[in-house]
Amino acid sequence: MALKRFPVYLPWAKFLVCLTIIMKTTPPSEPPCQNVQLLNWVKEMAALCKPDQIHWVDGSQQEYDALCAQLVAGGTFIKLNEKLWPGCFYARSDASDVARVEERTFICSKTKEDAGPTNNWADPVEMKAKLTKLFDGSMRGRTMYVLPYSMGPIGSPISQIGVEITDSAYVVVNMRIMARIGQAVFKEIDKGLRWVPCMHSVGAPLAAGQKDVIWPCNKEKYIVHFPETLEIWSFGSGYGGNALLGKKCYALRIASTMARNEGWMAEHMLILGVENPKGEKTYVAAAFPSACGKTNFAMLIPPATFKGWKVWTVGDDIAWIKPGKDGRLHAINPEAGFFGVAPGTSDKTNPNAMKSLARNSIFTNVARTLDGGVWWEGMTDAPPAELIDWQGNKWTPAIGKEKGIKAAHPNSRFTAPASQCPTIDPDWENPQGVPISAFIFGGRRATTMPLVFQSFNWTHGVYVGATMGSEMTAAAAGTVGKVRRDPMAMLPFAGYNMADYFAHWLSMQKSVKFLPAIFHVNWFRKSAEGKFLWPGFGENMRVLKWITDRVNGRAAAVESPIGWVPRYQDFEWTGLEFSPEEFEQVMALDNDAWAKELIDQETLFFNLRDRLPRQLINERQQVISRM
Ligand code: OXD
Ligand code: MN
Repeated sequence: MALKRFPVYLPWAKFLVCLTIIMKTTPPSEPPCQNVQLLNWVKEMAALCKPDQIHWVDGSQQEYDALCAQLVAGGTFIKLNEKLWPGCFYARSDASDVARVEERTFICSKTKEDAGPTNNWADPVEMKAKLTKLFDGSMRGRTMYVLPYSMGPIGSPISQIGVEITDSAYVVVNMRIMARIGQAVFKEIDKGLRWVPCMHSVGAPLAAGQKDVIWPCNKEKYIVHFPETLEIWSFGSGYGGNALLGKKCYALRIASTMARNEGWMAEHMLILGVENPKGEKTYVAAAFPSACGKTNFAMLIPPATFKGWKVWTVGDDIAWIKPGKDGRLHAINPEAGFFGVAPGTSDKTNPNAMKSLARNSIFTNVARTLDGGVWWEGMTDAPPAELIDWQGNKWTPAIGKEKGIKAAHPNSRFTAPASQCPTIDPDWENPQGVPISAFIFGGRRATTMPLVFQSFNWTHGVYVGATMGSEMTAAAAGTVGKVRRDPMAMLPFAGYNMADYFAHWLSMQKSVKFLPAIFHVNWFRKSAEGKFLWPGFGENMRVLKWITDRVNGRAAAVESPIGWVPRYQDFEWTGLEFSPEEFEQVMALDNDAWAKELIDQETLFFNLRDRLPRQLINERQQVISRM
């Protein structure tokens, strides 16, 4: 039917059939590395999971094309209109598998105290026994892919290696965009570099002759981390951070533990470089909770009146940061792609993201247009007259309104190569990383938090990050809109006790001579009538200019009870009509709201009381007395 409707696909269909036949008749690949530990582990896992065959992933374009063709043949992928969306594919997940599952995410350290009260803990021995049962035969009827990957440029002293065993070809092709994978990584392993074993199964074995579904998964889900033995086991989900194990599981939960032990930092932060008209570049890293506009901020386009200013993108989600010989902190983006939230992304809100995802990208759970393209809420002002929604049903604006359903799932995603971003920084793959001059924390807060303030010093800045809060979004299952404390945007991602994580942040003072200044921003403050008080997007450049000018000693500020704040005259306003009264409103400190805020912080501190560093208690006391 679909082929008749879109004759443009016919040559493609023939090509896909041929490729599928080639794939089916190609003998299983041989191990392309000699590392005995790796070979033994693969053997052991194959004996446990009982796949039909083993595929050693070489990471080549040919392999990628063949796997995509196989996914198209099986119905998991739909090839998008080549003219409109060259090299792009579409996938639709099971309705029960659409986001990270935080309540099914476990940190299995030896003791519960080491995981801390903000993580789900399970005994490592008991959990291993449970997982062994679940993985027993879990890959029957499927191929087991052995996928070596490097988080960060291959060979960088800041990069780390993982090997993901997965029974999902969807995971392999997404990982090829999100990380450096394949042959070159096997070579690094053969040199004897440390690698983290990562087990993944969708948990949907196939009996002989059983027809597969387009999105295999299991109702029972386990996303499990063993921080002491550096292992990841993920069962039952094929979606995003649950399944692309290099991202949240490795680059944040496991890496944060490695970083604590080894004196570096693994943070949920974008990295960007601000170039001024003199050509000087200042790099900052910013932590915002999921779906708070990190990708937009990382790709910001300054207002037209900011002649000679440019923002360069290094990363949009994760930063690995190490003290350098020059006494500064240096950061890399461990990822190679963007796994961005699609709704709200448009040529108006983020033209750089739109250009990044325009080709060679994978779209999951967005809506499809009738001409073989994709659409999501916010992509255009008005929706197309008819769409196929993320569940595969006919969708029109009238149906959407009547049934109250969105065409694209709120957590629908694009997987796009970072190299395609027009503002990608020339140093984004520099193995030494980029020097960081400022850390920015921020959340989605309708009240209380002013547009921007700067902490008084490092310890105060750690307190500001530790007490961050944000209204919840659709990136994780939970109550959308409720404010939750999300320290350093790491609540779902710290691989160990959050109080020890704060202590680790504080300890960086001992090893780093020139620490970044710390700021807090809030783009989302609303008036009593519910209107945003700050225009956001490109206009955030005005805040970014103040921040980078501050760290370069070129901008003034005045003291307030919560930190250093700009006055109206400290901002560049050319090109924006924003009155001193409006500025006052967006910067206002409301005593009642702050009283509530400080009481709410008490709950977090009480929760972490066993190991909470005293310095943070002191910092809170000082804010209370200053207020
Ligand atoms: C993400 C998240 O996908 O934070 O980046 O949820
Ligand atoms: Mn994230």
